Amino acid sequence: MKVADIKNVAGIGGGVIGGSWAVLFAMKGLNVKLYDINDDCLANDKKTIVSNLEFLAENGAIEDKDAVLARIQFTTSMEEAVKDAQFIQESGPERLPIKHSMLAEIEKYAPVDAIVATSASGLPLGQITEHAVHPERCVGGHPYNPPHLIPLVEITKTEKTDEANVELAKEFYESLGKEAIVLKKDCPGYICNRLQLAVFREMVDLVERGVCTVEEADKALTFGPAIRWAIFGHNMIMQLGNKDGLKGMMDMLAGGFNLCADIAAWDTIPADYGTKAQKEMDEIMKNLPDEVGHTNAEIAQYRDKMLIDILKLHHKF
Ligand SMILES: NC(=O)c1ccc[n+]([C@@H]2O[C@H](COP(=O)([O-])OP(=O)(O)OC[C@H]3O[C@@H](n4cnc5c(N)ncnc54)[C@H](O)[C@@H]3O)[C@@H](O)[C@H]2O)c1
Repeated sequence: MKVADIKNVAGIGGGVIGGSWAVLFAMKGLNVKLYDINDDCLANDKKTIVSNLEFLAENGAIEDKDAVLARIQFTTSMEEAVKDAQFIQESGPERLPIKHSMLAEIEKYAPVDAIVATSASGLPLGQITEHAVHPERCVGGHPYNPPHLIPLVEITKTEKTDEANVELAKEFYESLGKEAIVLKKDCPGYICNRLQLAVFREMVDLVERGVCTVEEADKALTFGPAIRWAIFGHNMIMQLGNKDGLKGMMDMLAGGFNLCADIAAWDTIPADYGTKAQKEMDEIMKNLPDEVGHTNAEIAQYRDKMLIDILKLHHKF
Protein backbone atom coordinates (compact mmCIF):
# COMPACT_ATOMS: atom_id res chain seq x y z
CA MET A 1 0.00 0.00 0.00
CA LYS A 2 1.09 3.60 -0.69
CA VAL A 3 0.01 6.81 1.05
CA ALA A 4 -2.06 7.74 -2.00
CA ASP A 5 -4.10 4.55 -1.47
CA ILE A 6 -5.21 5.75 1.96
CA LYS A 7 -8.64 7.29 1.44
CA ASN A 8 -10.66 5.77 4.29
CA VAL A 9 -9.66 6.21 7.89
CA ALA A 10 -11.29 4.69 10.96
CA GLY A 11 -11.13 6.46 14.30
CA ILE A 12 -11.73 4.14 17.25
CA GLY A 13 -12.87 6.16 20.26
CA GLY A 14 -14.01 9.74 19.73
CA GLY A 15 -13.07 11.48 22.99
CA VAL A 16 -10.60 14.36 23.43
CA ILE A 17 -8.01 12.78 21.15
CA GLY A 18 -10.10 10.60 18.82
CA GLY A 19 -12.49 13.45 18.01
CA SER A 20 -9.59 15.76 17.26
CA TRP A 21 -7.92 13.18 15.00
CA ALA A 22 -11.25 12.84 13.14
CA VAL A 23 -11.30 16.61 12.54
CA LEU A 24 -7.76 16.49 11.15
CA PHE A 25 -8.42 13.49 8.87
CA ALA A 26 -11.61 15.06 7.51
CA MET A 27 -9.97 18.50 7.08
CA LYS A 28 -7.41 16.81 4.88
CA GLY A 29 -10.11 15.33 2.62
CA LEU A 30 -10.18 11.76 3.94
CA ASN A 31 -13.36 9.75 4.56
CA VAL A 32 -13.62 9.10 8.27
CA LYS A 33 -15.66 6.56 10.15
CA LEU A 34 -15.66 7.34 13.83
CA TYR A 35 -16.52 4.48 16.17
CA ASP A 36 -17.66 4.90 19.76
CA ILE A 37 -19.28 2.52 22.21
CA ASN A 38 -22.81 3.94 22.25
CA ASP A 39 -25.03 6.65 20.80
CA ASP A 40 -24.64 8.96 23.80
CA CYS A 41 -20.85 8.91 23.39
CA LEU A 42 -21.19 9.50 19.66
CA ALA A 43 -23.55 12.45 20.28
CA ASN A 44 -20.95 14.00 22.61
CA ASP A 45 -18.15 13.29 20.14
CA LYS A 46 -20.14 15.01 17.39
CA LYS A 47 -20.89 18.06 19.55
CA THR A 48 -17.20 18.59 20.27
CA ILE A 49 -16.24 18.03 16.63
CA VAL A 50 -18.84 20.58 15.45
CA SER A 51 -17.60 23.16 17.94
CA ASN A 52 -13.98 22.55 16.87
CA LEU A 53 -14.97 22.99 13.22
CA GLU A 54 -16.87 26.21 14.00
CA PHE A 55 -13.81 27.54 15.82
CA LEU A 56 -11.52 26.61 12.90
CA ALA A 57 -13.86 28.27 10.40
CA GLU A 58 -14.17 31.46 12.51
CA ASN A 59 -10.38 31.67 12.65
CA GLY A 60 -9.77 31.16 8.96
CA ALA A 61 -8.24 27.67 9.27
CA ILE A 62 -10.94 25.95 7.16
CA GLU A 63 -13.32 27.27 4.54
CA ASP A 64 -16.28 24.90 4.51
CA LYS A 65 -16.98 23.35 7.91
CA ASP A 66 -20.09 21.55 6.66
CA ALA A 67 -18.11 19.81 3.91
CA VAL A 68 -15.53 18.70 6.51
CA LEU A 69 -18.25 17.40 8.85
CA ALA A 70 -19.95 15.57 5.99
CA ARG A 71 -16.79 13.48 5.55
CA ILE A 72 -17.18 12.05 9.08
CA GLN A 73 -19.60 9.16 9.60
CA PHE A 74 -20.47 8.16 13.16
CA THR A 75 -21.02 4.53 14.04
CA THR A 76 -21.33 2.13 16.97
CA SER A 77 -20.44 -0.82 14.71
CA MET A 78 -16.77 -1.75 14.77
CA GLU A 79 -17.25 -3.78 11.59
CA GLU A 80 -18.72 -0.79 9.78
CA ALA A 81 -15.93 1.47 11.07
CA VAL A 82 -12.95 -0.59 9.97
CA LYS A 83 -14.05 -2.90 7.16
CA ASP A 84 -13.00 -0.49 4.34
CA ALA A 85 -10.27 1.37 6.22
CA GLN A 86 -6.69 1.59 5.06
CA PHE A 87 -5.59 3.40 8.23
CA ILE A 88 -7.02 2.94 11.73
CA GLN A 89 -6.28 5.35 14.57
CA GLU A 90 -7.23 3.85 17.93
CA SER A 91 -7.86 6.46 20.66
CA GLY A 92 -9.71 4.52 23.34
CA PRO A 93 -9.14 4.73 27.10
CA GLU A 94 -5.60 4.20 28.35
CA ARG A 95 -6.29 0.85 30.05
CA LEU A 96 -4.56 -2.32 28.89
CA PRO A 97 -7.58 -4.69 28.95
CA ILE A 98 -9.57 -2.15 26.92
CA LYS A 99 -6.72 -1.65 24.44
CA HIS A 100 -6.50 -5.46 24.09
CA SER A 101 -10.21 -5.90 23.45
CA MET A 102 -10.33 -2.94 21.02
CA LEU A 103 -7.42 -4.32 19.03
CA ALA A 104 -8.99 -7.80 18.93
CA GLU A 105 -12.24 -6.28 17.61
CA ILE A 106 -10.39 -4.16 15.07
CA GLU A 107 -8.48 -7.19 13.81
CA LYS A 108 -11.68 -9.20 13.48
CA TYR A 109 -13.03 -6.85 10.80
CA ALA A 110 -10.17 -4.77 9.37
CA PRO A 111 -8.49 -5.55 6.04
CA VAL A 112 -5.30 -7.45 6.76
CA ASP A 113 -3.04 -4.73 5.33
CA ALA A 114 -4.68 -1.78 7.14
CA ILE A 115 -2.27 0.08 9.38
CA VAL A 116 -3.36 0.16 13.03
CA ALA A 117 -1.97 3.09 15.00
CA THR A 118 -2.63 3.65 18.69
CA SER A 119 -2.68 7.08 20.31
CA ALA A 120 -1.62 5.51 23.64
CA SER A 121 0.50 7.87 25.72
CA GLY A 122 1.78 5.56 28.44
CA LEU A 123 1.17 1.88 27.72
CA PRO A 124 4.04 0.36 25.73
CA LEU A 125 3.12 -0.71 22.20
CA GLY A 126 4.60 -4.17 22.89
CA GLN A 127 2.01 -4.72 25.64
CA ILE A 128 -0.90 -3.32 23.65
CA THR A 129 -0.07 -5.63 20.74
CA GLU A 130 1.00 -8.73 22.72
CA HIS A 131 -2.03 -10.73 21.51
CA ALA A 132 -2.23 -9.13 18.05
CA VAL A 133 -2.72 -11.47 15.11
CA HIS A 134 -0.90 -9.03 12.83
CA PRO A 135 1.56 -7.10 15.00
CA GLU A 136 3.54 -6.25 11.86
CA ARG A 137 0.96 -3.57 10.96
CA CYS A 138 0.72 -2.02 14.43
CA VAL A 139 2.46 1.25 15.31
CA GLY A 140 2.18 3.87 18.00
CA GLY A 141 0.99 7.22 16.66
CA HIS A 142 1.19 9.42 19.73
CA PRO A 143 -0.22 12.89 19.14
CA TYR A 144 0.20 16.03 21.11
CA ASN A 145 -3.15 17.45 22.18
CA PRO A 146 -5.06 18.63 20.17
CA PRO A 147 -3.92 16.55 17.17
CA HIS A 148 -5.85 18.72 14.68
CA LEU A 149 -3.72 21.71 15.68
CA ILE A 150 -0.39 20.51 17.07
CA PRO A 151 1.77 19.06 14.29
CA LEU A 152 3.89 16.63 16.31
CA VAL A 153 3.26 12.89 16.20
CA GLU A 154 5.66 10.43 17.82
CA ILE A 155 5.72 7.05 16.07
CA THR A 156 6.72 3.93 17.95
CA LYS A 157 7.24 0.37 16.80
CA THR A 158 8.02 -3.05 18.24
CA GLU A 159 10.47 -5.63 16.95
CA LYS A 160 7.47 -7.24 15.22
CA THR A 161 6.41 -4.09 13.34
CA ASP A 162 7.24 -4.20 9.65
CA GLU A 163 9.58 -1.28 8.85
CA ALA A 164 7.64 -0.67 5.62
CA ASN A 165 4.53 -0.03 7.73
CA VAL A 166 6.44 2.35 9.99
CA GLU A 167 7.58 4.27 6.93
CA LEU A 168 4.05 4.25 5.51
CA ALA A 169 2.58 5.58 8.77
CA LYS A 170 5.23 8.32 8.83
CA GLU A 171 4.55 9.33 5.23
CA PHE A 172 0.82 9.24 5.87
CA TYR A 173 1.03 11.55 8.89
CA GLU A 174 3.37 13.85 6.97
CA SER A 175 0.89 13.98 4.08
CA LEU A 176 -1.56 15.48 6.60
CA GLY A 177 0.95 18.19 7.54
CA LYS A 178 2.10 16.45 10.71
CA GLU A 179 5.72 16.52 11.84
CA ALA A 180 6.38 12.83 12.49
CA ILE A 181 9.30 11.41 14.44
CA VAL A 182 9.98 7.66 14.58
CA LEU A 183 11.48 6.75 17.95
CA LYS A 184 14.51 4.53 17.49
CA LYS A 185 13.84 2.62 20.70
CA ASP A 186 11.29 2.24 23.51
CA CYS A 187 11.25 5.23 25.85
CA PRO A 188 8.66 5.97 28.58
CA GLY A 189 7.04 9.35 27.93
CA TYR A 190 8.47 9.30 24.38
CA ILE A 191 10.32 12.56 23.61
CA CYS A 192 7.97 15.43 24.30
CA ASN A 193 6.49 14.46 27.63
CA ARG A 194 10.03 14.07 28.93
CA LEU A 195 11.14 17.45 27.58
CA GLN A 196 8.22 19.29 29.12
CA LEU A 197 8.54 17.46 32.44
CA ALA A 198 12.25 18.31 32.61
CA VAL A 199 11.44 22.00 32.17
CA PHE A 200 8.49 21.79 34.54
CA ARG A 201 10.59 20.15 37.27
CA GLU A 202 12.96 23.11 37.15
CA MET A 203 10.03 25.57 37.23
CA VAL A 204 8.63 23.87 40.33
CA ASP A 205 12.08 23.89 41.90
CA LEU A 206 12.57 27.61 41.26
CA VAL A 207 9.23 28.37 42.93
CA GLU A 208 10.03 26.03 45.84
CA ARG A 209 13.44 27.71 46.30
CA GLY A 210 11.66 31.07 46.46
CA VAL A 211 13.44 32.44 43.38
CA CYS A 212 10.19 33.37 41.62
CA THR A 213 6.41 32.93 41.75
CA VAL A 214 4.37 30.54 39.61
CA GLU A 215 3.34 33.51 37.46
CA GLU A 216 6.92 34.72 37.03
CA ALA A 217 8.15 31.23 36.12
CA ASP A 218 5.47 31.05 33.38
CA LYS A 219 6.28 34.58 32.19
CA ALA A 220 10.02 33.79 32.00
CA LEU A 221 9.31 30.68 29.95
CA THR A 222 6.75 32.24 27.59
CA PHE A 223 8.61 35.46 26.85
CA GLY A 224 12.08 33.91 26.96
CA PRO A 225 12.89 30.45 25.64
CA ALA A 226 9.41 29.35 24.57
CA ILE A 227 8.87 32.18 22.10
CA ARG A 228 12.09 31.08 20.35
CA TRP A 229 11.20 27.39 20.73
CA ALA A 230 8.03 28.06 18.73
CA ILE A 231 10.38 28.74 15.80
CA PHE A 232 13.40 26.45 16.31
CA GLY A 233 14.40 23.65 18.67
CA HIS A 234 16.96 24.30 21.37
CA ASN A 235 19.88 22.76 19.47
CA MET A 236 19.35 25.28 16.67
CA ILE A 237 18.90 28.10 19.18
CA MET A 238 22.28 27.14 20.68
CA GLN A 239 23.80 27.05 17.19
CA LEU A 240 22.66 30.63 16.63
CA GLY A 241 23.84 31.78 20.06
CA ASN A 242 27.60 31.53 19.51
CA LYS A 243 29.92 32.48 16.67
CA ASP A 244 31.29 28.92 16.77
CA GLY A 245 27.79 27.45 16.76
CA LEU A 246 26.55 24.62 18.91
CA LYS A 247 30.07 23.37 19.60
CA GLY A 248 31.13 26.86 20.73
CA MET A 249 28.11 27.06 23.02
CA MET A 250 28.93 23.64 24.54
CA ASP A 251 32.54 24.70 25.15
CA MET A 252 31.33 27.90 26.77
CA LEU A 253 28.94 26.02 29.08
CA ALA A 254 31.57 23.41 29.95
CA GLY A 255 34.15 26.09 30.73
CA GLY A 256 31.98 28.28 32.96
CA PHE A 257 30.05 27.82 36.19
CA ASN A 258 28.67 24.25 36.18
CA LEU A 259 24.97 25.09 36.21
CA CYS A 260 24.11 21.46 35.41
CA ALA A 261 25.14 20.55 38.94
CA ASP A 262 22.60 22.99 40.39
CA ILE A 263 19.61 22.02 38.23
CA ALA A 264 16.72 20.23 40.00
CA ALA A 265 17.26 16.47 40.19
CA TRP A 266 14.52 15.32 42.58
CA ASP A 267 12.56 12.27 41.46
CA THR A 268 9.17 12.72 43.13
CA ILE A 269 6.78 15.64 42.77
CA PRO A 270 6.81 17.74 46.01
CA ALA A 271 3.70 16.64 47.92
CA ASP A 272 2.12 20.03 48.61
CA TYR A 273 3.20 21.90 45.46
CA GLY A 274 -0.10 21.25 43.65
CA THR A 275 -2.21 22.80 46.42
CA LYS A 276 0.06 25.85 46.80
CA ALA A 277 0.47 26.44 43.07
CA GLN A 278 -3.27 26.04 42.42
CA LYS A 279 -4.08 28.88 44.86
CA GLU A 280 -1.69 31.15 43.00
CA MET A 281 -3.04 29.98 39.64
CA ASP A 282 -6.63 30.80 40.69
CA GLU A 283 -5.50 34.38 41.48
CA ILE A 284 -3.56 34.63 38.19
CA MET A 285 -6.65 33.58 36.24
CA LYS A 286 -8.88 36.10 38.07
CA ASN A 287 -6.49 38.91 37.09
CA LEU A 288 -5.94 38.04 33.43
CA PRO A 289 -7.11 40.61 30.86
CA ASP A 290 -10.73 39.96 29.78
CA GLU A 291 -9.43 39.44 26.23
CA VAL A 292 -7.54 36.34 27.43
CA GLY A 293 -10.37 35.09 29.64
CA HIS A 294 -10.79 33.85 33.20
CA THR A 295 -11.99 30.24 32.91
CA ASN A 296 -10.19 27.18 31.50
CA ALA A 297 -12.53 27.14 28.48
CA GLU A 298 -11.97 30.86 27.71
CA ILE A 299 -8.20 30.70 28.15
CA ALA A 300 -7.95 27.50 26.08
CA GLN A 301 -9.80 29.26 23.28
CA TYR A 302 -7.39 32.20 23.45
CA ARG A 303 -4.47 29.71 23.37
CA ASP A 304 -5.92 27.95 20.31
CA LYS A 305 -6.42 31.26 18.46
CA MET A 306 -2.77 32.11 19.08
CA LEU A 307 -1.82 28.57 18.02
CA ILE A 308 -3.54 29.02 14.68
CA ASP A 309 -1.59 32.26 14.11
CA ILE A 310 1.69 30.52 14.94
CA LEU A 311 0.77 27.56 12.72
CA LYS A 312 0.00 29.98 9.88
CA LEU A 313 3.53 31.41 10.28
CA HIS A 314 4.82 27.83 9.96
CA HIS A 315 2.67 27.43 6.80
CA LYS A 316 0.67 24.69 8.50
CA PHE A 317 -2.63 26.29 7.51
N1 LIG B 1 -5.75 13.59 26.41
C1 LIG B 1 -4.50 13.78 26.02
O1 LIG B 1 -3.90 14.85 26.22
C2 LIG B 1 -3.77 12.70 25.27
C3 LIG B 1 -2.63 13.04 24.50
C4 LIG B 1 -1.99 12.06 23.75
C5 LIG B 1 -2.48 10.75 23.77
N2 LIG B 1 -3.58 10.43 24.54
C6 LIG B 1 -4.06 9.05 24.50
O2 LIG B 1 -5.19 8.99 23.64
C7 LIG B 1 -6.08 7.96 24.09
C8 LIG B 1 -7.46 8.55 24.32
O3 LIG B 1 -7.36 9.55 25.32
P1 LIG B 1 -8.50 10.65 25.50
O4 LIG B 1 -7.90 11.72 26.35
O5 LIG B 1 -9.08 11.02 24.18
O6 LIG B 1 -9.59 9.85 26.35
P2 LIG B 1 -11.15 10.10 26.41
O7 LIG B 1 -11.60 9.46 27.66
O8 LIG B 1 -11.46 11.52 26.15
O9 LIG B 1 -11.70 9.26 25.16
C9 LIG B 1 -11.78 7.88 25.13
C10 LIG B 1 -12.84 7.50 24.12
O10 LIG B 1 -12.88 6.08 24.00
C11 LIG B 1 -14.23 5.67 24.08
N3 LIG B 1 -14.27 4.29 24.58
C12 LIG B 1 -14.51 3.85 25.82
N4 LIG B 1 -14.45 2.51 25.87
C13 LIG B 1 -14.17 2.11 24.63
C14 LIG B 1 -14.02 0.85 24.03
N5 LIG B 1 -14.11 -0.26 24.73
N6 LIG B 1 -13.80 0.80 22.71
C15 LIG B 1 -13.67 1.95 21.99
N7 LIG B 1 -13.80 3.17 22.50
C16 LIG B 1 -14.05 3.25 23.81
C17 LIG B 1 -14.90 6.65 24.98
O11 LIG B 1 -16.32 6.65 24.80
C18 LIG B 1 -14.24 7.94 24.52
O12 LIG B 1 -14.87 8.48 23.37
C19 LIG B 1 -5.46 7.37 25.35
O13 LIG B 1 -4.71 6.23 25.00
C20 LIG B 1 -4.55 8.49 25.82
O14 LIG B 1 -3.46 8.03 26.59
C21 LIG B 1 -4.24 11.37 25.27
